[in-house]
Amino acid sequence: MSVLAEKVITRDWHKGANHTLDGYQKNGGYEQLKKALTMAPAAITDEVKKSGLRGRGGAGFPTGLKWSFVPSLEKNTKPRYLAINADESEPGTAKDRFILENDPHLLLEGIGIACFALGAHTCYIYARGEFKHPSAVLDKAIAEAYAAGIFGKKLMGTDFELNVYQVRGAGAYICGEETALLESLEGKKGWPRLKPPFPAVVGLFGSPTVVNNVETIASLPRIFEKGAEWFMKLGTGKSGGTRLVTVSGAVLRPGTYEVSMDTSLRELIYDKAYGQGLPEGRTVKACIPGGSSAPVLTADELDVKLEFDAFKPLQSMAGSGGVMVMDDTACMVRCLWRVARFYAEESCGQCTPCREGQPWMARIIRKIEEGRGEPADLDTLVNVAQAIAPWPPIGLGNTICALGDAGALPVQSFVQKFRKEFEDHIAQKRCPHGETPWGVFGEFK
Ligand SMILES: Cc1cc2nc3c(=O)[nH]c(=O)nc-3n(C[C@H](O)[C@H](O)[C@H](O)COP(=O)(O)O)c2cc1C
Ligand code: SF4
Repeated sequence: MSVLAEKVITRDWHKGANHTLDGYQKNGGYEQLKKALTMAPAAITDEVKKSGLRGRGGAGFPTGLKWSFVPSLEKNTKPRYLAINADESEPGTAKDRFILENDPHLLLEGIGIACFALGAHTCYIYARGEFKHPSAVLDKAIAEAYAAGIFGKKLMGTDFELNVYQVRGAGAYICGEETALLESLEGKKGWPRLKPPFPAVVGLFGSPTVVNNVETIASLPRIFEKGAEWFMKLGTGKSGGTRLVTVSGAVLRPGTYEVSMDTSLRELIYDKAYGQGLPEGRTVKACIPGGSSAPVLTADELDVKLEFDAFKPLQSMAGSGGVMVMDDTACMVRCLWRVARFYAEESCGQCTPCREGQPWMARIIRKIEEGRGEPADLDTLVNVAQAIAPWPPIGLGNTICALGDAGALPVQSFVQKFRKEFEDHIAQKRCPHGETPWGVFGEFK
């Protein structure tokens, strides 16, 4: 069993009042920012590249490489920005909120390092609107950092000015997509932008902007404390560091855990340190490995490692680390209907395949679950999904942003891997699993 020997992000979460500036500094906080401020900005980016740090927001894009797309000041004299993505709305994902609550200064120290490397004098942290407590803790930490002279006109006493602001979202999942987030920060409706140009070149207010996830940036102080090589060695393949993953569903001990990327899904579900297996008599039927948009896996596919590239042969993805486990009693049609309803509601409506297709798929799945399905429905369902985003492979979406794919991939993978369950519903003209105590459709019964 691969239990993590060394904690990176969660290392100090249980040490004193780590969420306060005083507690954080007692645990060695802000020493790495001090160190980074003595380095050349390009050398910081090189160190991040060497560390193998990859974005924890979902796509696993190499962080140092993303930073290097920001044009030099000679080529583009506009101010540059860092935007932190703390929107965390992907169903099944609950990790960034715990960083904000337990270690807000770890994020703020990472922001100092990143902004200095990028030459960004302003950082916006875009936080999910529902984050009442995490946002309050973060606000307090920002105020503490200003009062201690860490942020403001002189970043830790240097001549580099850095201002950091928290901006609260208003509950739209789409505002976690990086260009919708920028639109929302500009005070507009959160509609994703066509790419290219990418935000690193044309981002916030038309200026070069790097958008990074909370966990990504919170990893930076550790990289500068222990070195890029140490961080790279902690990981596996081309991915450095550890990951925070959230396990929910049919396991005995759901929760958010920091794991080595060498850990397999099976270990995460069954290990005593993590999910602790399923209740007696139950077995795994299916597992969504990386937030609800990640194609579903069967019980035979659980030996995959929790590393970004490891999911490619399975045509799925590590995504945002939201692992959802379904046991042998689960109705896969009902589960898919729940997922499809989410994406239908959260589509921003800009592109026709997504705006029309997501609710269409949700209606067909509901019809099948309610016993009104016809044999032709399954082909229609897959055809609609294919028109939004062909699968496999991942990444061929026909829409402006990846929400289209996020809604289409679960449909294709559920139907491909559990087709018999869909056919049984249609043949028997009812859900073979019957109603749950709260009705077939929960509050919508
Ligand atoms: C519909 C949609 C929702 C997203 N929601 C989030 C989110 O809540 N948090 C996040 O960090 N990234 C989210 N992303 C990914 C971001 O667009 C972006 O890739 C990420 O913030 C980049 O940070 P990283 O390189 O550090 O991973 C979302 C993407 C899509 C398409
Ligand atoms: S894919 Fe969907 S959510 Fe994304 S821009 Fe198009 S309509 Fe909006």
